[in-house]
Amino acid sequence: MTDNATVDPVASQYERWIYPEPVEDLSAPQERDLRAGCDPARLSAAYWPDRRPRTAMKILVAGCGANLAARYAFHYPESRVVGIDISAASLAHERRLKERHALDNLELRLERLEHIACLGESFDFIDTSGVLHHLPDPTQGLRALGTVLEPDGVIFVMLYAKYGRAGVYMLQDLFRMMGLEQSERDLALVKDCLSTLKSDHPIHRYLRQSNDVDYDAGLVDTFLHRQDIPFTVQDCLRLVQDAGLAFQGWMENFFYYPEAQIPRDAPFYAPLDGLPEPLRWQAMELMHGHVSQHAFYACRADRDPATYRIDFETDRFMRYVPVRRWDLALQETPAGLLVLERAPYPPLTLTPPQSLILRQADGQRSIEDCVREVRFKDPPEVVRHFCRALFQDLWRLGLYHYRLPGALG
Ligand SMILES: C[S@@+](CC[C@H](N)C(=O)[O-])C[C@H]1O[C@@H](n2cnc3c(N)ncnc32)[C@H](O)[C@@H]1O
Repeated sequence: MTDNATVDPVASQYERWIYPEPVEDLSAPQERDLRAGCDPARLSAAYWPDRRPRTAMKILVAGCGANLAARYAFHYPESRVVGIDISAASLAHERRLKERHALDNLELRLERLEHIACLGESFDFIDTSGVLHHLPDPTQGLRALGTVLEPDGVIFVMLYAKYGRAGVYMLQDLFRMMGLEQSERDLALVKDCLSTLKSDHPIHRYLRQSNDVDYDAGLVDTFLHRQDIPFTVQDCLRLVQDAGLAFQGWMENFFYYPEAQIPRDAPFYAPLDGLPEPLRWQAMELMHGHVSQHAFYACRADRDPATYRIDFETDRFMRYVPVRRWDLALQETPAGLLVLERAPYPPLTLTPPQSLILRQADGQRSIEDCVREVRFKDPPEVVRHFCRALFQDLWRLGLYHYRLPGALG
């Protein structure tokens, strides 16, 4: 145990209960294709819509836990990866993975992310998933990470959400009231309590969707944590602003726009959709009720928004290149309509003209190129109106990203 861990309750938890469950072999069949959901290989069009994907980067995994830094190093042999954490035990496991897979591109440091500037390095991509909500001052932490970001770098942040984890916080309060600590004995009491809760307790939906409740360190992390500050949409936006950064976007637009959650003909659709952007996001968090984490990406405030902002307000969107989400499957009905499937979201069946145009989207053609291929007979303003509605929906439903004009040139 480090000196740090004897005084810091967060460090001492992760010394004893390393998180997540250690992976022994990153090349095992069930592991080798696993990547973090926010891995640039999956989201580069969202992070850097103005350019082609890269494989050579400087990547920082801030609060890397047991596996994540090694996983990045494994998938990005051309990149330099730095993993930092306050848990020596977690870093020891990362080191085992480094040795096992000869990850010469991986450096591991026992360091608080608040002190990251002492490394004297800057990064193109920073992943800090599930970490900032455990800091005494998350703003200070994010600000520190912002100071080591390259001018066009991106920070991915995942924070616990307040409303969707209401059941977790009720039980954290209960276990605190009972004086439970993080011992094996207390963990057994937690398990016993979970198994006796009535089936309509608010925790049950969370238990069904969480990967962290099937192993001991995950249960300690969920129910016996000593420092766990949840965030609302508003809190996330304030955090980014107070850290001196610019908010770029949500990893899953699905949760933050009404398209996915409310029938278009519902009387309250229009008033909700008419809210200005941050309020619309807040409203949708309240409406959804079960968003259990907020995953988003931010960049330096001095990065030119024209290099990353996606909007459908002007006709510029016609020059965007639609990029299918990596896990979106396209199926076809017997009648030749496209069906967009991205589990766990509901499938979306397109109309005949929507199917026609989307079939042209090959990751290279712009929307206007697709229109040209289809040769619609309607006047251009009607086609633009149709395209705006379709491609904005696909973006808000989290099915497509867009590259900006010139990104692939
Ligand atoms: C819930 S785990 C997440 C691990 C990893 N990011 C992942 O998603 O698999 C949180 C990790 O952050 C580390 N951590 C907590 N506070 C930290 C700090 N101030 N600086 C660096 N790491 C920290 C913990 O030791 C722990 O390994």
